[in-house]
Order: sequence, then C-alpha cells, then structure tokens
Amino acid sequence: MEDSIVFYIEQNRLPFEFVINKASTYHDCCVAIRSMQIRGAGAIGAMAGFAMALASLSASRDAVWNHAEDNLPNDYNASLRAARSEIEATRPTAHNLFYATKRVFDAAMRSPEEAITEAQLVADRDAADSKKIGEFGNSLIHDGARILTHCNAGWLAFVDFGTALSPVYMAHQSGKNVFVYADETRPRSQGARLTAWELFQEGVPHVIIPDNAGASLMAQGKVDMVITGADRIAANGDTANKIGTLEKAIAAHEYGIPFYIAAPTSTFDPGCASGKDIVIEERNEEEVLFQEGPDAYGVMHRILVCSPGSHALNPAFDVTPAKYITGYITEEGVTPKSPEGDLLRDAGTPKSLKGDWEDKTA
Ligand code: MRU
Repeated sequence: MEDSIVFYIEQNRLPFEFVINKASTYHDCCVAIRSMQIRGAGAIGAMAGFAMALASLSASRDAVWNHAEDNLPNDYNASLRAARSEIEATRPTAHNLFYATKRVFDAAMRSPEEAITEAQLVADRDAADSKKIGEFGNSLIHDGARILTHCNAGWLAFVDFGTALSPVYMAHQSGKNVFVYADETRPRSQGARLTAWELFQEGVPHVIIPDNAGASLMAQGKVDMVITGADRIAANGDTANKIGTLEKAIAAHEYGIPFYIAAPTSTFDPGCASGKDIVIEERNEEEVLFQEGPDAYGVMHRILVCSPGSHALNPAFDVTPAKYITGYITEEGVTPKSPEGDLLRDAGTPKSLKGDWEDKTA
C-alpha cells in the first residue's frame, strides 16, 4: 500500500502475462476479490485488510468532524460498517477474509492511521506464518519425496511463501530432491496455471496431472505424501479447501499415504463447530462451461468446452472430515489430529487458539 493505493498481482492473467494492478478504493479491492484477480485464502485476507484501511481513509475524508468531541463522527462509523459488510460479502468461504476484515475494522474504529498499520500487520503476520509453516513442513519431507498438491497454495495465494507449497520450497532450497504432482484443479485450473507457474519459477521438478489421476498414482505407489492448503478449518478439524480435495484425502487414506493440511492459525475458525457449519461458495456455471487461454499468436479467447445447452454445477470448495487428515502444519508446529476428531479441544491444539475455543464453549 503506497499513497493509498494497493498493488497486487492480477492472477487471472497468469501464467500468460505478469501484470501488477492497482486498487485505489475499497470498491476496487472488492471487485478484485470477487473476480478472482486476487485469490487464495491469505491473499484474499490481506486484500480485505487493505480494503478496510482504504475504506477508513475515505470515510475519514468524507466525515463531518466535530472537533469539540473526542469520538469519531457517526457518519465515519456508519461508512465503516457499510464497507465491512461489502468486503465480507465478496466471498464466503475463506476465513482469512473475515479474520483480516475484523482486525482492521476494530483498528479503524480507533483511527484511520491505526487501520493502515493493522492492515500491514495482517499481511506481515501472514508472511511470517507461512515462512514458519515452510520450516515445520520441511521436517516432514524426506529426500526424494513425491508430493501431490491440489489447487494453488503457494506465494500467490498466501503472502510471500504460501502454505502447502512453502514446505516444498524450503525442502527444495535445502537441497532435497522433491517432485510435485500438481492437480490441474478444474474449473479455474489454479493448479495447472498458478501452481505449475510458481514451481517453474522456483525450479522445482513437477508435472501437471488431470484432476482424476491422483488416486491411480497413489495406487501405483507413486505418491509419498499429500499437502494442501485450507480455506477454513472448523473446531473439530474438518477442513474446507478447493473442490476436489476431499477425494484426494479419501484416496490417500485408502492407500496409507500421509495427508497434511498446511494453514496458519488465522485460517482456523472456532466459530464453526464442524465442517457442516462452513459456507461453501457456489460459483457461476460459466467457469465450468467455458475455458480461456491464448491462441498461437497470444490473443486470448474464451471457448465453450461443454455440450451447448447443458447447465453446470460449480461448488468452489469441499469439506474434508478430520478423520482423513494426518496433521495440520501451522506456524506453531505440526498438530496431530485428535483421535476423537475434535481438534481444538485436543492437547495438540495450536496454543493461540485455545482461548478462542474456550471462550466459545464456556
Ligand atoms: O482460488 P480460490 O480462492 O477459489 O481457492 C482458494 C485456494 O486457493 C485453495 O483452496 C487453497 O488450496 C487454499 S488457500 C491458500
């Protein structure tokens, strides 16, 4: 954020073009999140925090200040509340969006300056957390490991290091031979477009696989572990992540392959008792029916790839029950799942979450 402008990587143009876009109002930020120019739980959260900070700046410019009073003017408070509702309505599933918006909203209720500081702190904490996730996750990866991942949970999706890919990058940088199977991740192809692009930039050996190839590779003994990110983790450890994660977890369980979720504690939501409470986003059917890409001359086209006249269903996420998850790689360490499948009550609960959970259940 510089002179009240948020700079961000336009992810819809990748891997064909690297473009930095600017958002100068909170509305611009909302459009960027809704249209998935910026996507991935952490990136969405950071953007939502900056959106709230921009809203606070413009609300303070427009407010009628009464300098006789210490309190912030009512119209400032009302504008902030309206902006918060609009930001929170952009996408429903990623918990980091709500976590960041609340943190910056609370700061903005004190002053716009505090809102800006807080938004930067949220982004900085994301970067620090994802680095720690990389360090802890690296300890689980052996030399020669073949790792399957789903969707994109790299540094495009979570500030600076990523979540699921952070351990992979650390393992690669520390000299281990690692190989990644990147699920294509239809319909928006975050794996084929973004994960593959990131891995290529980092020099990590990988192949893109069709979404329906994972179980077969596991059955052939070609996958040593699965690591994915998360969009929201319920109190019992059930985890919402990109659609298609569940079937990889079931297959990994069947073949005795460790299945890890990599996510910071800011992705855990003690307000959701189980996965049943997580709102799953339904996206437009056009994402399934059409695909976009460049022709041989670099001109982008959108083409129909399904039978004309048919409709499509497009749930963006699924919920993997805790029983299929081997452990959670957080910034506090690797948390094993509870045998009862009740993660946040368990002794292995990340320390910073214990208070939240106790508050909710008191
Ligand atoms: O592309 P999105 O925002 O719809 O998907 C979210 C994700 O990137 C994934 O589900 C990811 O695996 C977890 S977010 C680091």
